[in-house]
Amino acid sequence: MKTYINEEVLILNININIEQDYEALSRKAAQIFAKKIKENPTGAFGFATGSSPIGLYKELVRMHKEEGLDFSGITAFNLDEYHPISRTSEHSYYYFMQEHLFRHVNINQGKVNIPDGMAKDTETECCSYEAKIAEAGGIVAQILGIGLNGHIGFNEPGESFEANTRYIPLAEMTLNANAQHFSNPDEMPRHALTMGIRTIMMAKSIILLANGPAKASIMKDAITGAITPLVPASALQLHPSVNVVMDKEAAAFF
Ligand code: F6R
Repeated sequence: MKTYINEEVLILNININIEQDYEALSRKAAQIFAKKIKENPTGAFGFATGSSPIGLYKELVRMHKEEGLDFSGITAFNLDEYHPISRTSEHSYYYFMQEHLFRHVNINQGKVNIPDGMAKDTETECCSYEAKIAEAGGIVAQILGIGLNGHIGFNEPGESFEANTRYIPLAEMTLNANAQHFSNPDEMPRHALTMGIRTIMMAKSIILLANGPAKASIMKDAITGAITPLVPASALQLHPSVNVVMDKEAAAFF
């Protein structure tokens, strides 16, 4: 019965794209995302950090420079940010987004929203983040990567599907996976501000990226396994419009 339900959901809501390699995956994701921007030039768009979307951002920059893809009217919302961390830290997600995308395109910097990693009152920061997304009319398309444990944003296994943007401790697996980016792993923040699964699910469409063999097993679980908070990305099976873009290695079990 469970398989039947998942097959139904899979067929109705999740469009699976399996690409030859990371470059092809990045181009495909950029095409999907750019189309959404062209259809909604003043809409709100959701961005992710991490290694998965770097190629997509590179391609969006190319599209901006060579094809005139216009970011001037959009509002950006990032999924998450470490806490505590300052915007000027090269480890901050604010810095990452500027480096990989925002400073290379004609986005209005006043419309770039990333949770404030230095917020003293984290609860107020999270509530106002939710309010800003609502004021911007909701997110048209949200880019996601997936953690080895199935996390999306920093929503770790066991978190409620009902959660809004909030302040959370990072899971040990996530701390270990991300420590490689810090020259001194002890400097890595142990908390984050993250959109909740409910916030992510409110986006009108989702683009989930996965590449490399390490993601193969969790992708199978997330897209065709049981829908459970133990695999946060499995919530996406309940979303009405998801594009999964994988390379062949991440899609090894499909
Ligand atoms: C990043 C984020 C995370 C990453 C995930 C995968 O903003 O919220 O959920 O998408 O950890 O990271 P990579 O792409 O580095 O494998």
